[in-house]
Amino acid sequence: MAVTHSSPEPSGSAGPESPATPSPAEPTTSAAQTSASAPETTAALEPEAPLEADVQPGGDDDNDSAIDAGSVLSTDTLTPSILEYRQLHGRTYPNAKTGDYWGPNDERQSEGLDLIHNALTLLLNDRLFLAPLRQDDPGRVLDIGTGTGIWALDFADEFPSADVIGTDLSPMQPSWVPPNLRFEVDDCLLEWTWPENHFDFVHARCMYGSIPDWTEMDTKILRHLKPGGYFEHVEIGCQGLSDHIELGPDHVFDTWAQVFYEAGEKTGRPFTICLDGEMAKHMRAAGFVDIQETKLKLPINSWAKDPKLKKAGTYFHYALERDMEGFSMFVCTQVLGWSKEEVHVMVARMRQAIRTKSLCPYITVNVVVGRKP
Ligand SMILES: C[S@@+](CC[C@H](N)C(=O)[O-])C[C@H]1O[C@@H](n2cnc3c(N)ncnc32)[C@H](O)[C@@H]1O
Repeated sequence: MAVTHSSPEPSGSAGPESPATPSPAEPTTSAAQTSASAPETTAALEPEAPLEADVQPGGDDDNDSAIDAGSVLSTDTLTPSILEYRQLHGRTYPNAKTGDYWGPNDERQSEGLDLIHNALTLLLNDRLFLAPLRQDDPGRVLDIGTGTGIWALDFADEFPSADVIGTDLSPMQPSWVPPNLRFEVDDCLLEWTWPENHFDFVHARCMYGSIPDWTEMDTKILRHLKPGGYFEHVEIGCQGLSDHIELGPDHVFDTWAQVFYEAGEKTGRPFTICLDGEMAKHMRAAGFVDIQETKLKLPINSWAKDPKLKKAGTYFHYALERDMEGFSMFVCTQVLGWSKEEVHVMVARMRQAIRTKSLCPYITVNVVVGRKP
């Protein structure tokens, strides 16, 4: 079962009727009528207990990578539009008026994002969201920072009656899409052109390090949601963890997390939004009610016993193997002033750690759902 934290609401907001499971919010408006049910029980949704391992934790580990790294790495492909982007160490990044985004927008990064999407969907028990949407007609849906658009594509396919928009700084989405989906190049930090009280559901995933002020962003989202509409905010943690093995001081998982936290502090666009309670805090400040926080554990490789978690961990491992340089190069060299070689050393240490199944490593994924009153 999902461990869902009903975030404490200030008096006068959600009140005691706040539900305690992910599909719980007893809707009080027609837009919030739901036929969704709570996700089925799997080991994936039992975050307080250590996940069962399919390996001997701390046992002999011949660095048994869950994958053959060589087989997943390939050369980048270039398209003409890439030439309009910022370039750094052979990678391309979007140009935004409101500031430099930290992640590349090339094919190698896109492959990583799609693999992470597969991992997250498995983690949610083959669901794309936890919000209690109307299954017969989820209405108008907005996916902010859609990346490759894979979540929006899957959503539009699953709900043909929905009207879905995916926005991003980069046009890195496919052009052949279902008729109920469109992608727009749009900077969500700028003024929104959609009407107020317009969307039934807004989704944002892995936007850490991108948004200077989450209360302001959540206020904007609230304004453009219909009364009774839902916002679902999903962030992956930066910190590798293990319930089975003492990782010891100065573990590369700590280095990796600190890099992102420090970079976020310097750019004024925090990565700490992924930490427990942070997303809920901003949603509450913006005026959302019935806020539910669900904390999940995503294995970093194939060490978990549960078949779904094993698969999710394998996807996540593939994504990291594929592009840890892409995730870290900008923040390390441009924000923290590291040399490219120093980044390669950290990534090599990370690669060693994420391949070690006997560490039973995982990261947390927080899913927070709030309703517009
Ligand atoms: C880590 S990716 C996640 C993509 C997608 N949400 C997913 O989960 O697969 C973050 C995305 O947010 C986009 N992004 C960052 N800042 C943005 C902004 N101000 N407006 C729109 N998109 C933004 C980036 O271009 C990137 O594609």
